[in-house]
Amino acid sequence: MTHDNSLADTDACALARHAADGLARTPKQLSSSWLYDAEGSRLFQQIMDLPEYYLTRVEHSILRDQAQAISACIAPGVAAVDLIELGSGDGAKTLTLLQKLMQRSAPVVYHPFDISAHAIAELSQRFASELPQLQLTPTIGDYFTHWPTPSDVNRQVAMFLGSNLGNFRQLEAVSFLQRIRSFLRPHDGLLLGVDLQKDPSIILAAYDDSQHITAAFNVNLLRRLNREIGTDFVLDQFHHYACYSPLDGAARSFLVSRTAQTVRCAQLGLSVDFAAGECIYVEQSQKYTVPMIDELATAGGFQREQIFFDAERWYAVVYLAAR
Ligand code: AVI
Repeated sequence: MTHDNSLADTDACALARHAADGLARTPKQLSSSWLYDAEGSRLFQQIMDLPEYYLTRVEHSILRDQAQAISACIAPGVAAVDLIELGSGDGAKTLTLLQKLMQRSAPVVYHPFDISAHAIAELSQRFASELPQLQLTPTIGDYFTHWPTPSDVNRQVAMFLGSNLGNFRQLEAVSFLQRIRSFLRPHDGLLLGVDLQKDPSIILAAYDDSQHITAAFNVNLLRRLNREIGTDFVLDQFHHYACYSPLDGAARSFLVSRTAQTVRCAQLGLSVDFAAGECIYVEQSQKYTVPMIDELATAGGFQREQIFFDAERWYAVVYLAAR
Protein backbone atom coordinates (compact mmCIF):
# COMPACT_ATOMS: atom_id res chain seq x y z
CA MET A 1 0.00 0.00 0.00
CA THR A 2 1.40 3.43 -0.90
CA HIS A 3 -0.09 6.75 -0.01
CA ASP A 4 0.86 10.38 0.16
CA ASN A 5 -0.64 13.42 1.79
CA SER A 6 -2.13 14.91 -1.40
CA LEU A 7 -5.61 14.33 0.03
CA ALA A 8 -4.67 15.62 3.48
CA ASP A 9 -6.64 18.87 3.40
CA THR A 10 -9.84 17.33 2.17
CA ASP A 11 -9.33 14.48 4.63
CA ALA A 12 -8.82 16.66 7.71
CA CYS A 13 -12.54 16.73 8.60
CA ALA A 14 -12.85 12.99 8.15
CA LEU A 15 -9.75 12.46 10.30
CA ALA A 16 -11.15 14.77 13.00
CA ARG A 17 -14.46 12.87 13.01
CA HIS A 18 -12.63 9.56 13.10
CA ALA A 19 -10.36 10.61 16.00
CA ALA A 20 -13.23 12.08 18.04
CA ASP A 21 -15.21 8.87 17.61
CA GLY A 22 -12.31 6.41 18.06
CA LEU A 23 -10.83 8.09 21.13
CA ALA A 24 -14.25 8.14 22.83
CA ARG A 25 -14.56 4.36 22.52
CA THR A 26 -13.56 1.67 24.96
CA PRO A 27 -11.01 0.45 24.10
CA LYS A 28 -9.78 3.55 22.29
CA GLN A 29 -9.03 2.95 18.63
CA LEU A 30 -7.77 4.65 15.48
CA SER A 31 -7.81 3.07 12.05
CA SER A 32 -4.55 1.99 10.44
CA SER A 33 -5.78 3.51 7.17
CA TRP A 34 -4.63 6.88 8.60
CA LEU A 35 -1.03 5.76 9.05
CA TYR A 36 -0.05 6.74 5.51
CA ASP A 37 0.68 10.46 5.42
CA ALA A 38 3.92 11.38 3.60
CA GLU A 39 6.08 10.39 6.58
CA GLY A 40 4.02 7.22 7.22
CA SER A 41 4.42 6.19 3.57
CA ARG A 42 8.17 6.79 3.80
CA LEU A 43 8.38 4.68 6.97
CA PHE A 44 6.28 1.94 5.37
CA GLN A 45 8.76 1.81 2.46
CA GLN A 46 11.49 1.23 5.07
CA ILE A 47 9.39 -1.45 6.80
CA MET A 48 9.09 -3.35 3.51
CA ASP A 49 12.91 -3.52 3.35
CA LEU A 50 13.38 -4.70 6.94
CA PRO A 51 14.88 -8.17 7.42
CA GLU A 52 12.05 -9.10 9.81
CA TYR A 53 9.28 -7.92 7.47
CA TYR A 54 9.29 -10.99 5.22
CA LEU A 55 5.89 -10.32 3.59
CA THR A 56 6.98 -8.07 0.71
CA ARG A 57 10.06 -10.12 -0.08
CA VAL A 58 8.25 -13.45 -0.07
CA GLU A 59 5.26 -12.22 -2.08
CA HIS A 60 7.64 -10.75 -4.63
CA SER A 61 9.49 -14.07 -4.91
CA ILE A 62 6.22 -15.93 -5.58
CA LEU A 63 5.19 -13.42 -8.26
CA ARG A 64 8.63 -13.63 -9.86
CA ASP A 65 9.32 -17.37 -9.61
CA GLN A 66 5.81 -18.51 -10.53
CA ALA A 67 5.01 -15.72 -12.97
CA GLN A 68 4.42 -18.21 -15.79
CA ALA A 69 1.77 -20.23 -13.93
CA ILE A 70 0.15 -17.12 -12.44
CA SER A 71 -0.13 -15.50 -15.86
CA ALA A 72 -1.80 -18.65 -17.15
CA CYS A 73 -4.55 -18.10 -14.52
CA ILE A 74 -4.92 -14.44 -15.44
CA ALA A 75 -4.94 -14.94 -19.21
CA PRO A 76 -5.76 -18.59 -19.91
CA GLY A 77 -6.76 -18.12 -23.55
CA VAL A 78 -6.71 -15.54 -26.28
CA ALA A 79 -9.39 -13.23 -24.85
CA ALA A 80 -8.11 -9.72 -23.96
CA VAL A 81 -7.72 -9.01 -20.24
CA ASP A 82 -8.29 -5.87 -18.17
CA LEU A 83 -5.91 -6.29 -15.24
CA ILE A 84 -6.97 -3.97 -12.42
CA GLU A 85 -4.46 -3.61 -9.60
CA LEU A 86 -5.91 -2.10 -6.42
CA GLY A 87 -3.13 -0.30 -4.53
CA SER A 88 -0.48 -0.84 -7.19
CA GLY A 89 2.14 1.40 -5.55
CA ASP A 90 5.08 1.99 -7.85
CA GLY A 91 4.50 -1.29 -9.73
CA ALA A 92 7.81 -2.84 -8.65
CA LYS A 93 6.23 -6.10 -7.52
CA THR A 94 4.13 -6.68 -10.65
CA LEU A 95 6.70 -5.88 -13.32
CA THR A 96 7.96 -9.45 -13.78
CA LEU A 97 4.43 -10.81 -13.79
CA LEU A 98 3.44 -8.32 -16.49
CA GLN A 99 6.51 -9.20 -18.53
CA LYS A 100 5.39 -12.85 -18.49
CA LEU A 101 1.78 -11.88 -19.24
CA MET A 102 2.91 -9.95 -22.29
CA GLN A 103 4.42 -13.14 -23.72
CA ARG A 104 1.00 -14.83 -23.78
CA SER A 105 -1.40 -14.59 -26.68
CA ALA A 106 -4.05 -12.52 -24.88
CA PRO A 107 -3.70 -8.73 -25.13
CA VAL A 108 -3.48 -7.10 -21.67
CA VAL A 109 -4.62 -3.66 -20.54
CA TYR A 110 -3.09 -2.84 -17.14
CA HIS A 111 -5.13 -0.52 -14.87
CA PRO A 112 -3.02 0.34 -11.80
CA PHE A 113 -4.95 2.16 -9.10
CA ASP A 114 -3.31 4.01 -6.24
CA ILE A 115 -4.12 6.94 -3.98
CA SER A 116 -0.55 8.24 -4.30
CA ALA A 117 0.11 10.49 -7.29
CA HIS A 118 3.83 10.00 -6.62
CA ALA A 119 3.59 6.18 -6.80
CA ILE A 120 1.55 6.32 -10.03
CA ALA A 121 4.11 8.70 -11.59
CA GLU A 122 6.95 6.30 -10.70
CA LEU A 123 4.99 3.34 -12.02
CA SER A 124 4.22 5.09 -15.31
CA GLN A 125 7.88 5.95 -15.77
CA ARG A 126 9.07 2.44 -14.90
CA PHE A 127 6.60 0.70 -17.22
CA ALA A 128 7.21 3.15 -20.07
CA SER A 129 10.90 2.23 -20.09
CA GLU A 130 10.66 -1.49 -19.16
CA LEU A 131 7.46 -2.48 -20.95
CA PRO A 132 6.80 0.21 -23.58
CA GLN A 133 4.41 -2.02 -25.52
CA LEU A 134 2.07 -2.51 -22.51
CA GLN A 135 -1.27 -0.72 -22.68
CA LEU A 136 -1.36 1.23 -19.42
CA THR A 137 -4.30 3.23 -18.01
CA PRO A 138 -3.28 4.40 -14.51
CA THR A 139 -5.72 6.00 -12.06
CA ILE A 140 -4.91 8.14 -9.03
CA GLY A 141 -7.75 7.45 -6.66
CA ASP A 142 -9.28 5.54 -3.84
CA TYR A 143 -10.16 1.99 -4.73
CA PHE A 144 -12.78 1.98 -2.00
CA THR A 145 -14.89 4.39 -4.01
CA HIS A 146 -13.76 4.06 -7.64
CA TRP A 147 -13.44 1.32 -10.23
CA PRO A 148 -11.99 1.78 -13.72
CA THR A 149 -14.45 1.62 -16.58
CA PRO A 150 -13.75 -1.77 -18.09
CA SER A 151 -14.25 -2.79 -21.69
CA ASP A 152 -17.54 -4.63 -22.34
CA VAL A 153 -15.80 -7.59 -23.85
CA ASN A 154 -12.48 -8.04 -22.04
CA ARG A 155 -12.04 -10.55 -19.26
CA GLN A 156 -11.43 -8.65 -15.97
CA VAL A 157 -8.94 -9.73 -13.35
CA ALA A 158 -8.49 -7.65 -10.19
CA MET A 159 -5.29 -7.85 -8.13
CA PHE A 160 -5.12 -7.06 -4.43
CA LEU A 161 -1.63 -7.89 -3.22
CA GLY A 162 0.64 -6.97 -0.31
CA SER A 163 -1.47 -8.75 2.35
CA ASN A 164 -3.61 -5.61 2.44
CA LEU A 165 -6.77 -7.68 2.98
CA GLY A 166 -5.31 -8.65 6.37
CA ASN A 167 -5.77 -5.07 7.61
CA PHE A 168 -9.55 -5.43 7.37
CA ARG A 169 -11.62 -6.91 10.16
CA GLN A 170 -13.39 -10.13 9.10
CA LEU A 171 -16.73 -8.54 8.09
CA GLU A 172 -15.00 -5.67 6.30
CA ALA A 173 -12.87 -8.18 4.39
CA VAL A 174 -15.99 -10.03 3.25
CA SER A 175 -17.76 -6.86 2.14
CA PHE A 176 -14.61 -5.66 0.35
CA LEU A 177 -14.45 -8.94 -1.60
CA GLN A 178 -18.18 -8.69 -2.33
CA ARG A 179 -17.67 -5.18 -3.66
CA ILE A 180 -14.90 -6.35 -5.99
CA ARG A 181 -17.09 -9.27 -7.04
CA SER A 182 -19.95 -6.86 -7.88
CA PHE A 183 -17.79 -5.33 -10.67
CA LEU A 184 -16.84 -8.70 -12.15
CA ARG A 185 -18.67 -11.13 -14.40
CA PRO A 186 -18.73 -14.88 -13.84
CA HIS A 187 -15.31 -16.41 -14.69
CA ASP A 188 -13.51 -13.10 -14.17
CA GLY A 189 -11.02 -13.34 -11.31
CA LEU A 190 -9.16 -11.89 -8.38
CA LEU A 191 -5.49 -12.42 -7.58
CA LEU A 192 -5.03 -12.01 -3.84
CA GLY A 193 -1.82 -11.90 -1.76
CA VAL A 194 -2.28 -13.20 1.78
CA ASP A 195 0.05 -13.84 4.68
CA LEU A 196 -0.22 -17.28 6.27
CA GLN A 197 -0.17 -18.47 9.87
CA LYS A 198 3.26 -19.74 10.89
CA ASP A 199 5.66 -19.75 13.85
CA PRO A 200 4.28 -16.90 16.01
CA SER A 201 7.74 -15.51 16.74
CA ILE A 202 8.38 -14.92 13.01
CA ILE A 203 5.12 -12.99 12.73
CA LEU A 204 5.66 -11.01 15.91
CA ALA A 205 9.16 -9.93 14.80
CA ALA A 206 7.68 -8.55 11.56
CA TYR A 207 5.58 -6.11 13.62
CA ASP A 208 8.13 -5.37 16.33
CA ASP A 209 11.38 -4.92 14.43
CA SER A 210 14.73 -4.41 16.12
CA GLN A 211 15.32 -1.04 14.41
CA HIS A 212 11.99 0.26 15.79
CA ILE A 213 10.81 1.44 12.38
CA THR A 214 7.37 -0.07 12.95
CA ALA A 215 7.22 1.76 16.29
CA ALA A 216 8.04 5.06 14.54
CA PHE A 217 5.41 4.25 11.87
CA ASN A 218 2.70 3.86 14.50
CA VAL A 219 3.73 6.82 16.69
CA ASN A 220 3.72 8.97 13.53
CA LEU A 221 -0.09 8.64 13.56
CA LEU A 222 -0.15 10.81 16.70
CA ARG A 223 2.17 13.32 15.02
CA ARG A 224 -0.30 13.42 12.11
CA LEU A 225 -3.22 14.06 14.48
CA ASN A 226 -1.30 16.92 16.13
CA ARG A 227 -0.47 18.50 12.78
CA GLU A 228 -3.75 17.98 10.96
CA ILE A 229 -6.40 18.33 13.65
CA GLY A 230 -4.52 20.13 16.44
CA THR A 231 -4.39 17.49 19.19
CA ASP A 232 -1.57 17.89 21.73
CA PHE A 233 -0.26 14.31 21.99
CA VAL A 234 3.22 14.30 23.58
CA LEU A 235 4.79 11.68 21.33
CA ASP A 236 7.30 10.24 23.76
CA GLN A 237 4.49 9.65 26.25
CA PHE A 238 3.24 6.79 24.03
CA HIS A 239 4.98 3.64 22.89
CA HIS A 240 4.32 0.97 20.30
CA TYR A 241 3.18 -2.47 21.43
CA ALA A 242 2.66 -5.39 19.05
CA CYS A 243 1.33 -8.87 19.75
CA TYR A 244 0.35 -11.93 17.78
CA SER A 245 -2.28 -14.41 18.84
CA PRO A 246 -2.03 -17.89 17.31
CA LEU A 247 -5.60 -18.45 18.56
CA ASP A 248 -7.14 -16.17 15.95
CA GLY A 249 -4.15 -15.57 13.69
CA ALA A 250 -4.17 -11.79 14.20
CA ALA A 251 -1.14 -9.58 14.75
CA ARG A 252 -2.29 -6.40 16.50
CA SER A 253 -0.55 -3.08 17.11
CA PHE A 254 -1.31 -0.58 19.86
CA LEU A 255 -0.08 2.79 21.10
CA VAL A 256 0.29 2.62 24.85
CA SER A 257 0.11 5.61 27.19
CA ARG A 258 3.18 5.63 29.44
CA THR A 259 1.47 7.70 32.14
CA ALA A 260 -1.93 8.95 33.27
CA GLN A 261 -2.45 11.98 31.04
CA THR A 262 -5.03 14.09 29.24
CA VAL A 263 -4.82 14.83 25.53
CA ARG A 264 -6.71 17.86 24.27
CA CYS A 265 -7.85 19.22 20.97
CA ALA A 266 -9.00 22.84 21.28
CA GLN A 267 -10.36 22.94 17.71
CA LEU A 268 -12.70 20.02 18.42
CA GLY A 269 -13.34 20.86 22.07
CA LEU A 270 -11.98 17.41 22.87
CA SER A 271 -10.38 16.22 26.09
CA VAL A 272 -9.34 12.57 26.31
CA ASP A 273 -8.11 10.99 29.54
CA PHE A 274 -5.62 8.12 29.44
CA ALA A 275 -4.79 5.86 32.35
CA ALA A 276 -1.16 4.74 32.64
CA GLY A 277 -0.82 1.71 30.36
CA GLU A 278 -4.04 2.40 28.48
CA CYS A 279 -3.93 1.42 24.80
CA ILE A 280 -5.13 2.82 21.51
CA TYR A 281 -5.81 -0.11 19.17
CA VAL A 282 -4.38 0.85 15.77
CA GLU A 283 -3.93 -2.10 13.47
CA GLN A 284 -4.88 -5.68 12.82
CA SER A 285 -2.84 -7.77 10.38
CA GLN A 286 -4.70 -11.04 9.88
CA LYS A 287 -2.77 -14.21 9.05
CA TYR A 288 -4.72 -16.96 7.31
CA THR A 289 -4.88 -20.71 6.92
CA VAL A 290 -6.01 -22.20 3.60
CA PRO A 291 -9.46 -23.12 5.03
CA MET A 292 -9.83 -19.51 6.24
CA ILE A 293 -8.99 -18.25 2.73
CA ASP A 294 -11.57 -20.60 1.22
CA GLU A 295 -14.24 -19.50 3.66
CA LEU A 296 -13.54 -15.85 2.98
CA ALA A 297 -13.52 -16.41 -0.78
CA THR A 298 -16.88 -18.17 -0.69
CA ALA A 299 -18.43 -15.45 1.48
CA GLY A 300 -17.11 -12.87 -0.99
CA GLY A 301 -18.64 -14.64 -4.02
CA PHE A 302 -15.48 -16.35 -5.26
CA GLN A 303 -14.03 -19.82 -5.49
CA ARG A 304 -10.37 -20.66 -5.06
CA GLU A 305 -8.97 -21.95 -8.34
CA GLN A 306 -5.20 -21.94 -7.73
CA ILE A 307 -2.86 -21.25 -4.86
CA PHE A 308 0.84 -20.42 -5.13
CA PHE A 309 3.10 -20.75 -2.09
CA ASP A 310 6.74 -19.94 -1.41
CA ALA A 311 8.97 -22.88 -0.45
CA GLU A 312 8.39 -22.36 3.29
CA ARG A 313 4.62 -21.80 2.93
CA TRP A 314 4.83 -18.46 4.73
CA TYR A 315 2.72 -16.64 2.17
CA ALA A 316 0.23 -17.35 -0.60
CA VAL A 317 -0.86 -15.73 -3.82
CA VAL A 318 -4.33 -17.05 -4.55
CA TYR A 319 -6.29 -16.95 -7.79
CA LEU A 320 -10.03 -16.74 -7.06
CA ALA A 321 -12.60 -17.17 -9.79
CA ALA A 322 -15.83 -15.16 -9.64
CA ARG A 323 -18.68 -17.61 -9.08
C1 AVI B 1 -0.08 -2.65 4.59
N1 AVI B 1 -0.16 -3.81 5.48
C2 AVI B 1 -0.41 -5.03 4.75
C3 AVI B 1 0.95 -3.92 6.44
C4 AVI B 1 0.75 -5.17 7.33
O1 AVI B 1 1.63 -6.03 7.32
O2 AVI B 1 -0.27 -5.28 7.97
C5 AVI B 1 1.04 -2.69 7.31
C6 AVI B 1 2.11 -2.79 8.37
N2 AVI B 1 1.96 -2.44 9.61
C7 AVI B 1 3.08 -2.64 10.27
N3 AVI B 1 3.95 -3.15 9.44
C8 AVI B 1 3.38 -3.23 8.23
